[in-house]
Amino acid sequence: MTNWLAGLWGWIDERLPVQRAWDTHMGKYYAPKNFNFWYFFGVLSLLVLVNQLLTGIWLTMNYVPSAEEAFASVEYIMRDVPYGDTLRYLHSTGASAFFIVVYLHMFRGLMYGSYRAPRELVWIFGMFIYVALMAEAFLGYVLPWGQMSYWGAQVIVNLFGAIPYVGEDLVQWIRGDYLISGATLNRFFALHVVAIPIVLLALVVLHILALHEVGSNNPDGVEIKKNKDENGIPLDGIPFHPYYTVHDLVGITVFLFAFCGVVFFAPEMGGMFLEHANFEQANGLKTPEHIAPVWYFTPFYAVLRAVTFDLGGVFTSKLLGFVAMAAAIVVLFFLPWLDKAKSKSVRYKGMLPKVMLIKFAACFVILGVLGLKSPTVERTLLAQISTLFYFAFFFSMPTWTSAGRKSFFGIVICIAFAIWTAYVSAVTLISSMHAAEGSGHGVNLFAYIYGFAVAAFIAAIPWLAARDAETPVPERVQMKGLNPVLVWGGLILFLALAFVPLKAIGAEGGACGTAACEHFEADVSDKESLQRGAQVFMNFCMGCHSANYSRYERVADDLGIPHQLMLDNLVFSDQKIGSLMKISMTPEKSKQWFGATPPDLSLVTRARSSEWVYNFLINFYKDDSRPTGVNNKVFANVGMPHVLMELQGLAECAPGPKLDSHGKVVRDHLGDTKNAPCGSLVVGSEKGTLNDEEYKSTVYDLVNFLTYVAEPGAEKRKKTGIFVFLFLGVLLVFTWLLNREYWKDVH
Ligand code: HEC
Repeated sequence: MTNWLAGLWGWIDERLPVQRAWDTHMGKYYAPKNFNFWYFFGVLSLLVLVNQLLTGIWLTMNYVPSAEEAFASVEYIMRDVPYGDTLRYLHSTGASAFFIVVYLHMFRGLMYGSYRAPRELVWIFGMFIYVALMAEAFLGYVLPWGQMSYWGAQVIVNLFGAIPYVGEDLVQWIRGDYLISGATLNRFFALHVVAIPIVLLALVVLHILALHEVGSNNPDGVEIKKNKDENGIPLDGIPFHPYYTVHDLVGITVFLFAFCGVVFFAPEMGGMFLEHANFEQANGLKTPEHIAPVWYFTPFYAVLRAVTFDLGGVFTSKLLGFVAMAAAIVVLFFLPWLDKAKSKSVRYKGMLPKVMLIKFAACFVILGVLGLKSPTVERTLLAQISTLFYFAFFFSMPTWTSAGRKSFFGIVICIAFAIWTAYVSAVTLISSMHAAEGSGHGVNLFAYIYGFAVAAFIAAIPWLAARDAETPVPERVQMKGLNPVLVWGGLILFLALAFVPLKAIGAEGGACGTAACEHFEADVSDKESLQRGAQVFMNFCMGCHSANYSRYERVADDLGIPHQLMLDNLVFSDQKIGSLMKISMTPEKSKQWFGATPPDLSLVTRARSSEWVYNFLINFYKDDSRPTGVNNKVFANVGMPHVLMELQGLAECAPGPKLDSHGKVVRDHLGDTKNAPCGSLVVGSEKGTLNDEEYKSTVYDLVNFLTYVAEPGAEKRKKTGIFVFLFLGVLLVFTWLLNREYWKDVH
């Protein structure tokens, strides 16, 4: 047997360089033995890549790339395909995880100078991977064909329209239509599943080939090839396999804890990984209130929006913003030639490069957060300051990496950036002081002081660099890192620089807009509540609303309702138990009757939040000016009549405290509240059959049921998650022991 296998192996190896490839890249690839925590992110991006490829293939088996069916096919995967929800969440979480690990991987490169000679090509291939990844993620985001898919695509494709002369034609060429349509979806699908993955894989191969040709850098930035033993093996190197394979297994397991934690317990990540608005099908006629790209694009989106000035002619702010955004990415390619320091690693550079790096990372985070939010005067200013610092970081890099020297050119660049930053802050300050004069609101001074402080810092760079000094780089790699005080200090500085400005610029509002929100917490494990809710839903809501993605049978099974009972009491007579929960009323008819189409409610609690739906249903009030005779405090001028009136009765308006658009009580400068004509609701003359408490409990059951319908597999998903965690716990013990065994003699 073994002879036979050895024979086969020999036969293959004579014809294919398997052994040689293995030796070059694994068994005899000598990696520095002082890799730290930051070196996990390379292998982790490889892991996520494999995850994306595998889950992507399986998703493709049930996904339908057409405008009519894409959204429904994703819900079909979520509900009817066994483990379809896990596949989908693995893929959607994988997309975000990809960027998390890639950003950290890039930051590692930035810290330790891994882009410096002889690794320029490694860095450049890496940058191409990053660009391809952005294209891939953007294309993939369009495929579920939700509102954000559609409008995000609209915004991003339209960016190309800013290019003078050819822009409009280019946009049309990309879309393949006069607007984002099924044709666009089809080509995006082709690019997402075939074209870009091939490019991505090829680039990954090139990235690794180039890396293994020159060898890995390390936290000390010392070239291990300079110190070899008599056999030509680097003294500070260690064979990648088995040492780093077992080492990486530990990192992979720890990463999987975090990754699976998201997949199984928080797949939406509060709307960051899966945006709420994307649980509503794409609708070209209905623009969402607030369009923001997914988090990994937002730093660049914030750069785009930060450009508000116009140079006239073809140089509109739209074009300049586009150019700034593209430049923010392109400038990274030039990094290998901008860094003039003697040492590669930030460890041996002076103090200034350490501070610059931390401030740069903080600005990137600030831009990322700002890109998610709707712009205000102060947020735009903060984005402008951060953008200017972003570019100043690169343009002044030759200056701040030249410790002990000062160049005329460096001074000019830094002063120019400083003046620009101060100018932007001053202009915004003056205009907002004018605006504040009439309104009685104060000016939030923090943003301006921050702007001037950043300007002063940029101006000081050449002088700080001249007084800075590098530490001599040791001959051999060190087995311990920087002084912990420096490391923790750096982390604290980063957090302060990133979050203090953001905190000072103001937070976003609550779920109910101008209405006070009552807290709602669903409990989809409470079967009795769900059963009651199902009954209310089918009796009171399905006259107008469908739940098109949900099947009666699944509901009956999950809620423990016998099929016959369900058929007799709840299912419309012409439907079968396996049918989707459709209704006979057509959208055209209902539009005629109510002036608005009652939307499908399968996903409403994911699109709007359960809390919103709950508050919507308890906030109807009498309003004779409306055709339905009712209005709603959470959804102003809603087209839906108060269908639960026989239960609740009809509340009436009474004076009450005025709320702002974030649901907070408005106070004048003496701290007194203002009264609004309909600030509160009181019991009206029309009484219902339930008292307030009973009504709220009925609505609770109803919304609880809707929360269940929005994701029927949620309970099972969490249970699976617990088993996955148990498995990972066991795996961690083994990988940890294995790693310890291999590394115990390495010093
Ligand atoms: C008589 C028909 C009718 C009935 C019955 C009805 N609705 Fe509606 N509903 C509407 C209409 C019409 C709209 C659209 C309102 C608009 O867009 O102005 C609507 C909108 C909604 C919305 C807002 C959806 C969104 O995201 O914009 C929710 C939530 C909702 N209904 C829940 C319910 C629930 C729960 C029930 C059962 C208690 C119910 N509806 C019963 C007609 C109805």
